[in-house]
Formats: sequence, structure tokens, C-alpha cells
Amino acid sequence: MITGKTKVIGIFGSPIEHTLSPVIHNEAFRVLKIDYCYVPFYVKKENLREAVQAIRALSLKGVNVTVPHKERVVEYLDELSEEVLKIGAANTILNSEGILKGFNTDVKGFITSIKEEGVEIAGRKVLLIGAGGAARAVAYGVLKEAGKVYIFNRTIEKAKEIEKQFNDIGEIRALPELSERVTRDMEIVINATSLGMKRDDPYPIGPYLLNSSHIYYDVVYPQTPLMKEVKKKGCKVIGGLGMLVWQAVYAFEIWTGVRPSAEIFMKILNKVLTNSKKFATKHT
Ligand SMILES: NC(=O)c1ccc[n+]([C@@H]2O[C@H](COP(=O)([O-])OP(=O)(O)OC[C@H]3O[C@@H](n4cnc5c(N)ncnc54)[C@H](OP(=O)(O)O)[C@@H]3O)[C@@H](O)[C@H]2O)c1
Repeated sequence: MITGKTKVIGIFGSPIEHTLSPVIHNEAFRVLKIDYCYVPFYVKKENLREAVQAIRALSLKGVNVTVPHKERVVEYLDELSEEVLKIGAANTILNSEGILKGFNTDVKGFITSIKEEGVEIAGRKVLLIGAGGAARAVAYGVLKEAGKVYIFNRTIEKAKEIEKQFNDIGEIRALPELSERVTRDMEIVINATSLGMKRDDPYPIGPYLLNSSHIYYDVVYPQTPLMKEVKKKGCKVIGGLGMLVWQAVYAFEIWTGVRPSAEIFMKILNKVLTNSKKFATKHT
């Protein structure tokens, strides 16, 4: 029940209709009996500054920030975590008595999700595809763990920009193209592009470039056509649901001081996804 004492968390995005975060967090607040609620806010690009000011004005306890605001929001914050400073993007804000602190829980979300699948990144050869916000978080995490990463992106200039910006953390090389010669030496291949979200998307990497020795990680969720395809080839495949869950767990802890178990979040998410599948089947 929402009362005058309930603390309010928001999420800023555009579009915002598709977000699963309100369902996950509200259900977790209910299960853990924490007097918080989580509300989606449709924030247009041109209104971001006012929306951030409203966090203070309305005494929101915090917010998540999603597409397309993760990068621009940084300039409006008072304090930035080490990751945000380096990546230049924040997905979580804490309002600490009027001081707005920015965090990027995608980094730890990615690292924890791959490790919980029994995959160690340290000492492995990693190929990362993409150069957007998610790719920057993953590149940062991989460099911190493995000290080395190869990065490929459709727009090569963006991969080169990351190479330049991150080369003080570790060894990073932007690749001009993907070929069998490149991929045969790789151990972990990560898709951090948005490809796979829509049914008719092209593959981020040709399946012929992957074999059963590769571990394939995809930040997109739920299962994409490429994940299915490379699973058949015998690759170990990890999807983006774990990262989604863990970034939410770490954000939840930042706002409430309570670390929920990831199982609670995964259970909620699986229920939501099963229900939306049932809904889609019923209405198509
Ligand atoms: N699992 C999680 O917790 C989690 C967390 C964060 C994000 N994500 C997911 O990660 C994905 C990327 O998000 P983002 O914030 O990084 O988006 P973004 O900043 O918009 O970056 C999009 C990336 O996809 C590439 N791309 C888009 N269309 C393409 C195409 N037709 N061919 C080749 N490359 C294409 C872009 O390449 P160009 O640079 O060439 O345009 C860029 O590298 C989204 O699906 C998002 O939902 C998941």
C-alpha cells in the first residue's frame, strides 16, 4: 500500500512502455516488505534536465535511466562513480539528501551474470561486438577482469573512440572486420549491439564464424535467433536476462541498502515473461 511514508523510485526513458523494471522492483519491494514504489516516467530528450531537477524537487529516492538518456544524464549529476566517470553513462541515480549520485550497475551486472554461469573472464580472449552504451559497460568490465579486449562495431569510428578512451585500463583493439581468422582465436564472443531484439534483425555475427569451442554471451533478452542457432552448434550460450537481473539487484541495493537475492528477481522476471508470451499467443 502506498502511504505518505512510501519512498518513490522512478525510471526515465523514451520509449518507456516496454520496460520490465517497474514490475521487477515493485514485486521485490512487496515480497521483501520494503516501503518503496517504482514508477515509469516518459521523459523526452528535450526534458531531461527538468526531469533530473524534479528528482530533488519531488524528493524521489532515486531513478533508473534508460535509452536514450544514459549518457546525457551524466552532466546533470553531482557525484559520479568510477565507472560512470570512465564510461560516460549512468543507469542508476541515488538522491542522497539532495546530492545526486550516478552509478552504472550494468558493469557489475554483466560481470556477475557471466561468472554465475561458471565462466571466468580473466585470462580469456574476448571479442566484443558493439560500441553503444551497453558495449562501453561490458568493455570496461572485461578490461578490468581480463586486461584485454577486441572490439568490432558496424561504425568503426565508434569502436576506435572506445579504444582511445579505454586504453589506459588495459589492452583494447578495434577491429575493422570480422573473419574466421579473427574469431578462431577468441574464447568468448559477446554481442552488445541491439541486434536480435526484432525478429527480422540481421545477425550481429555470422554463425559460421562460431564453433563449439566459443562461449557466446548476448546482452539482448530473452532468447534471440542467433542464440538458438549457435546453441545447436554446441556453443555455451548465455543470454542477457542474468545481466538484467543483476544490474537491478545492485541498483536496488544502492537505493534501499538491502541486497535482495537474485533468485527473487529471476523468479519475478520469468513469471512476467511467461505471462507476456501467453498474452501474445492469445492475441495473435
Ligand atoms: N541485459 C541487460 O541488462 C542490458 C543492459 C543494457 C542494455 N541491454 C541491451 O543492449 C542492447 C544495446 O543497448 P545500448 O544501450 O548499447 O544501445 P545503443 O547505445 O543504441 O547501441 C546500439 C549498438 O547496436 C549497433 N547496431 C544497431 N543496429 C545495428 C545494425 N543494423 N547493424 C549493426 N549494428 C547495429 C550499433 O552500431 P552503430 O554504432 O554502428 O550504430 C551500436 O553498437 C539493447 O538491446 C539493450 O536492451 C541489455
